[in-house]
This record gives sequence, structure tokens and C-alpha cells, in this order.
Amino acid sequence: MDTKDKFIIDTILEKFTDMKDPTLMILQNIQEILGCVREEYLTYVAESNGYSLTELYGIVSFYPQFRLSPPGKHTIKICKGTACHVRGGAAIQKNLQNLLGIKPGDTTEDGVFTLESVRCLGCCGLSPVIMIDNETYGRVKTSKLQEILVKYKGVSANENQ
Ligand code: FES
Repeated sequence: MDTKDKFIIDTILEKFTDMKDPTLMILQNIQEILGCVREEYLTYVAESNGYSLTELYGIVSFYPQFRLSPPGKHTIKICKGTACHVRGGAAIQKNLQNLLGIKPGDTTEDGVFTLESVRCLGCCGLSPVIMIDNETYGRVKTSKLQEILVKYKGVSANENQ
């Protein structure tokens, strides 16, 4: 772990020294600033503050908000809500998983895509829905997924907005 990351974590740990049970807040702050709660960060927190590494792993695996690896350039959100489910959401998810070779919560090896599943994207009338970065794709068909993904290859999240 580099010195900059250590400094950031030390600063976060210091910020919560007076709090009674700051573990969750510490982990949330680390992810917010460093993008994830990777293993080396957890180990550092455990070693420098006497936390149990098992407890830290227990927290990050319990709350779906935490990621153990940095997100890819583009985040694909698959809707798992009822409206999307009854209109083919499961097939969309299965196809995306096959095309990318990853499951929700994972990032492709090339670091381009992170796949996430969410409860509802708030536009049920367009189901089935996926969202890539800030762009919503409604009434998605499995046959169109490859075409949609190609648009994002080699394009950073900021360029695509
Ligand atoms: S259920 Fe999919 S957007 Fe609401």
C-alpha cells in the first residue's frame, strides 16, 4: 500500500477516535475516498487500530454497498425489481454476465465494466431496464446488449456523458 493511501486511512482513523463504534463509518469513508475497501486497506485498519480482520470482512460482506476492488471505468446497473423481472430482466442479467464473464459485484479483468444489481432504477414503465453510468436503457433486448456494450469500450465514463 502506498504512503498516500496510508496517510488517507490514518486521517480517517483519527477523525473517528472519539466515536464509540466507528467501524462502519471508517469503512464508508475509506470507500468514499479510495474507491473500495480492498484487502490491504482492511489489513491496515485491523493492524493499526486493533480491529479484528474477521469482523471487518464480516461488515464489508454484509453490506452490499462495499466493494473489495476498485470499480471499472463504467458501471452497469441491472434492475432486479418486479416490473423488470417479469419482463425479461433475468435473461438480460444472464446475457450480460455471459458477455462480460463476471457476476454482479465484480469488475471485468480489463477494468472497463463493473456489474451491479439494484432493486429498482425508478423507471419501471421502461422495463426491463439497465443503466450504464448515467445513461438509462429501457425495453432492453438481449440481442442489443453487445451493441450497447461496444459503445463503452475504450470510452471513459466522463467522455460518454
Ligand atoms: S423494477 Fe426495474 S426500474 Fe423499477
